[in-house]
Amino acid sequence: MYSIWKRFVKKDASSDLTDRIQRIREFGVPQHIAIIMDGNGRWAKKRALPRVAGHHEGMKVVRKITRMANQLGVSALTVYAFSTENWKRPKTEVEYLMKLPEEFLGSFLPELIRENVRVEMIGDFTTLPAHTQRAVQKAIDDTKDNDGLVLNFALNYGSRAEIVKGVNNVLKDAQKGILKGDISEDVFSRYLMTSTLPDPDLLIRTSGEIRLSNFMLWQLAYTELWFTEVLWPDFNETHLLEAIEVYQKRARRYGGV
Ligand code: IPE
Ligand code: IPE
Ligand code: MG
Repeated sequence: MYSIWKRFVKKDASSDLTDRIQRIREFGVPQHIAIIMDGNGRWAKKRALPRVAGHHEGMKVVRKITRMANQLGVSALTVYAFSTENWKRPKTEVEYLMKLPEEFLGSFLPELIRENVRVEMIGDFTTLPAHTQRAVQKAIDDTKDNDGLVLNFALNYGSRAEIVKGVNNVLKDAQKGILKGDISEDVFSRYLMTSTLPDPDLLIRTSGEIRLSNFMLWQLAYTELWFTEVLWPDFNETHLLEAIEVYQKRARRYGGV
C-alpha cells in the first residue's frame, strides 16, 4: 500500500514538472540566458570545506542547468566561469579553476556532442594555461557542427578588456580602409567576442551579490536581471524555471511605452 502511494506521489511530481516546462516553452523562452555563477566559496565555507570543493560542486550544477536549458529550447547559455580579475585569487585556487574545464568536458563532452550542443568561449584564450586551452579547443572543435543550444563559457573574460580590444580592432580596420567614417552600434557589436550571439534576454546572478563584476557591460543594456540569494552549488533546475517565469511576466519596453 505504502509503496503504491509513494509511486503515485513521485509520478505526480514529475508530471507537474513536465507540465511546468511545457507551459514555459509555450510562453516563449528567453533566447539567450547569461549566468554569473557566484557563491562557490561561501558554499564550501559553510560546510568547513576548502573553497575548491565549492567549485567542484558548482561544476556539477553547470551540467544540470545545461541539460535543462537544452530541454527548454533556449538558444544560448553563457556561464561566467572565470573573470579577468579572478587571477588575483590564491595560486592553488586559480590552478584548480584552470583544471575544471578539463574535468567538466572530459566527462560531459560526449553528452554535449550527442545532444547537439555547441561549445563556444568568450574571453582571452591566449593567456590560459596550455592544458586548459587544449580542453576548450577540443570541445569547440568536436561540437562545431552542432546547431542546438550554444553553451558559451566566459573564461578569462572581462567586459572592459573585450570593449577595448574591440576598439583597437576597429582602429586597425579603419587604418586598413576596411571601415570608413563613423561606425554604428551594430558594426561595433561585431567587434565584440559575442558577435555571433544575440544579447542576453535574461541575466541570473546567484549568491545575493547585486553587481555585474565586469560581465557583458555592452550586451546587458536591455537585459532583464534576476538575482537570488541561492549559492551557485545549491542552484537547481527549479530555480532556473522560477527565473524564467519571472522573466516571462516582465514587460520589456526598451524605452517605449
Ligand atoms: C564563483 O564563486 C566562482 C568563481 C568566481 C570562479 P566564488 O568563488 O566567487 O564564491 P564566493 O563569492 O567566494 O562565495
Ligand atoms: C564574478 O564573481 C566572476 C565569476 C562568477 C566568474 P566574483 O566572485 O569574482 O565577483 P566579485 O569579486 O564578488 O565582484
Ligand atoms: Mg564570488
